[in-house]
Amino acid sequence: MHILLTGGTGLIGRHLCRFWQDKGYRLTVWSRRPAQVAQVCGAGVRGIARLDELGEEPVDAVVNLAGAPIADRHWTSHRRALLWASRITLTEQLIAWLQGRQQRPAVLISGSAVGWYGDGGERELTELSQPVKEDFASQLCIAWEETALRAEALGMRVVLVRTGLVLAAEGGFLSRLRLPFKLGLGGPIGSGRQWMPWVHLDDQIALIDFLLQREDASGPYNACAPEPVRNREFARRLGRALHRPAFMPLPALVLRAGLGELSVLLLGGQRARPVRLLAAGFTFRYNDVQSALDDLSARL
Ligand SMILES: NC(=O)c1ccc[n+]([C@@H]2O[C@H](COP(=O)([O-])OP(=O)(O)OC[C@H]3O[C@@H](n4cnc5c(N)ncnc54)[C@H](OP(=O)(O)O)[C@@H]3O)[C@@H](O)[C@H]2O)c1
Repeated sequence: MHILLTGGTGLIGRHLCRFWQDKGYRLTVWSRRPAQVAQVCGAGVRGIARLDELGEEPVDAVVNLAGAPIADRHWTSHRRALLWASRITLTEQLIAWLQGRQQRPAVLISGSAVGWYGDGGERELTELSQPVKEDFASQLCIAWEETALRAEALGMRVVLVRTGLVLAAEGGFLSRLRLPFKLGLGGPIGSGRQWMPWVHLDDQIALIDFLLQREDASGPYNACAPEPVRNREFARRLGRALHRPAFMPLPALVLRAGLGELSVLLLGGQRARPVRLLAAGFTFRYNDVQSALDDLSARL
């Protein structure tokens, strides 16, 4: 099996590379820093700067995860353009390359986020739900998914992975919370009532592999554990895993003033459920957030 990845050097991508290398798959990562791919993703992984470097070499699957980090900086117009180009324009380039090929991979697994639904409030969100309240992040995900779906017209199976907050020991969401929580300054954000769909990195890797192997899998899948928690509960459980108090609230007003529209990512949420993954027979290793945080806390 030869898999082409974009975003292969990222948190999810590099763990996928290690997982699939252990299975003996051949991996190529399309990257802005191809010389570093082998070091980041594993010795046998090839980095390419341009897709045409592949020539007509057969590719069995494409996994498309590239994108500038969404919560890193203010959503200025310049930042919005970068967030858009690094996902939508890059996916358009991928589709154009696929169009021009004689041999086509059977499947495109493309990234997305539970942010596709916008802030869902108390509503339970399954893959049949429509976006509840659109914001920039949901518009970005909607356009990203629509672009990826163009590969269907090329006869490819397209899977959309609507990912929740990925919990990992290094990188991702938890790495930002580590310091305040370790200092005893952690706590609920805003009202703390917003829902947080989360997924342990090991499950994220396993479910992407599951969706790759399942030839009948296509369309959107909520990639989050079956039991989302409210932000207040998440803070309490992270405090418990780190043996620290977690009562220090972060007021919504402060966040809105400091982050502008980006604050919707923290003040809003999604009560998303992985209905389609469960129906397809995927088993999550980490169903409850405490077990996930306890597993990661020693390495945080
Ligand atoms: N982690 C989460 O909690 C989470 C949740 C929901 C959705 N997602 C989405 O899932 C995808 C993968 O997540 P991740 O956490 O693994 O991401 P990540 O660690 O931020 O890595 C994303 C990769 O995208 C590429 N990239 C970054 N900026 C870029 C730019 N300006 N132009 C082109 N490529 C760029 C980089 O690859 P190169 O440097 O090799 O080019 C980078 O390694 C992302 O698109 C993310 O938005 C993640």
